Amino acid sequence: MVNVQSNHRMNQHGVLEIDGVTSTELVKQYGTPLMVYNETAIRQNCREFKQTFDQSGLTYQVAYAGKAFLCMDMVRLVKEEGMSLDVVSGGELYTALQAGFPVERIHFHGNNKSVEELEMGIDAGIGCFVVDNFIELELLHELAAEREQKVNILLRVTPGVEAHTHDYIMTGQEDSKFGFDVGNGQGKLGVQLALQKPYFHLLGVHSHIGSQIFETEGFQYAIEVLARFLQEVREESDVVMSVLNVGGGFGVRYTEEDEPLPIREYVKSITEAVKFSFGQLSYPTPEIWVEPGRSIVAEAGTTLYKIGTQKNLPGIRKYVAIDGGMTDNLRPALYKARYDALLANRANEERTEVVSIAGKACESGDMLIWDIALPPVRMGDTLAVFSTGAYGYSMANNYNRTPRPAVVFVKEGESRLVIRRESYRDLVRNDVLHHGVEAVVKSQ
Ligand code: LLP
Repeated sequence: MVNVQSNHRMNQHGVLEIDGVTSTELVKQYGTPLMVYNETAIRQNCREFKQTFDQSGLTYQVAYAGKAFLCMDMVRLVKEEGMSLDVVSGGELYTALQAGFPVERIHFHGNNKSVEELEMGIDAGIGCFVVDNFIELELLHELAAEREQKVNILLRVTPGVEAHTHDYIMTGQEDSKFGFDVGNGQGKLGVQLALQKPYFHLLGVHSHIGSQIFETEGFQYAIEVLARFLQEVREESDVVMSVLNVGGGFGVRYTEEDEPLPIREYVKSITEAVKFSFGQLSYPTPEIWVEPGRSIVAEAGTTLYKIGTQKNLPGIRKYVAIDGGMTDNLRPALYKARYDALLANRANEERTEVVSIAGKACESGDMLIWDIALPPVRMGDTLAVFSTGAYGYSMANNYNRTPRPAVVFVKEGESRLVIRRESYRDLVRNDVLHHGVEAVVKSQ
C-alpha cells in the first residue's frame, strides 16, 4: 500500500503532490535535497491549538517553539496566526526581531543564556524570560536594574514528571540540567528570591516534561503538581501567580506505528486538568501557555532527495544512496528515529523491493531508513521522506562541507523559496586563509 499522508496527494500520473504542487516541478525548480513545507498544514495546526483553547474559555498563549524549525518567513507565519514565539538563543531571537515579530509575544528560554543574549532580550523589550537557574536569576536582575527596566519572568521548574512517547514516570527529584527542582525546595527558593527583586515581575512558572508524547496523563500530573506548588507559594507568601506554562512535547506521526492524539485532545486534557486542579484548590485559574514545536511543523515537512548509487549485497541487503542524509536530517543517526518514504515520481508503482536508504556522508551510521519497500529505483528518481519538518533543517549541519538544502513553502498550488540553498561560497565565507609567512602570528 502506498502511504501518502494526509498532507499529500498522488496525481493521475502517479506523482506526489504537496498542497497542489508536484514533486517533479519542485525538484526541477529548486533542486535536491529540498525541504518542502505544506504551509496550509502548518497553519491548520496553529489554528487547531488556538481554536481548542478558545473553546475552553481559558486565557492562553500558544508559543511556537522555534527550535523545531525557524526562518524569517516562518516567523511571519507564526505572527500572522496570532501565536507567540518561544526562542532559545540569540540567533533565534535575532531571526524573530529581523522578521518583525511582536516583541511582547516573544518568550526567551535557555539554561545558559549569555550576558549578550540577556541584554539583547531586555533591550528589545521581549515579553518574558523563562529563568532557568539561580545564576541567571541574579544576572538578569542585575542587567534589568542597570537599565532601570522591569522584565517579566517565568521560573522554569522541574515538577518531577518525565514523559516519554507512551508513558510517564514520576521521578521525584529530577536529574535534569533544566530548571529549579520542585521536590528539593529549589523551586520555592527561586520564587522567594524572584519576588524580592524590584525589577522582576514574576508571572508564574514553566515546566516542560518531554517530547514526542502520545498520552495525556503526564501533562495532567504535572499540572496537579504545579497547582499544589503555586498554592503553597500563595499560603507562604500571599502571592497569586497569573501564568502557568506547560511546555510542548505533543507527539506526531513519523511512521504508521505512531499513533499520536489529535492536537485538540492534548489541549483539552490540559485545559480540563487546569480547571480541575486549580478549581480544587480554589486558586484563580491562571493563564495557560503552551510551547508546541514538533506538532506544528513535523508532519507538514517532506524532504525530497535524488536517488544516486546502489549497492546490492545478495542475501543481505540493497543500499540505495540519496544526495543528503545526516547533514539535513540528523535524527536517525542521533536517536534511531524512523521515517516513512515513497518514490515521489513513480508513487503508483508497486513496492516490490526492500531496500535501505543510505545518506552520502562519510559515516557508516549515516543511514536514513532501514528496510523500506519501494518500487525498483533508478538513478535520478526522487525519494520523498515524510514528517521531516521538525528538528530536521534546524539540526542540519555542514559535515563533509555539505551545503544545507533549500527550503520552500508550498500553498494551494504555489511554491516559494524561504531559505536559499547554501552554496560552496557560503561554506568558505568564514574561512580565513593566510598567505605566506608574513601572516603567521608570532607567539611573542
Ligand atoms: N519547550 C521547551 C522548554 C522545550 O525544551 C521544547 C523542546 C519544546 C518546548 C518543544 O517541544 P516539542 O513540542 O517540539 O516536542 N531534537 C529532538 C527534540 C528536542 C526537543 C527539545 N525541547 C528531536 O529531534 O526529537
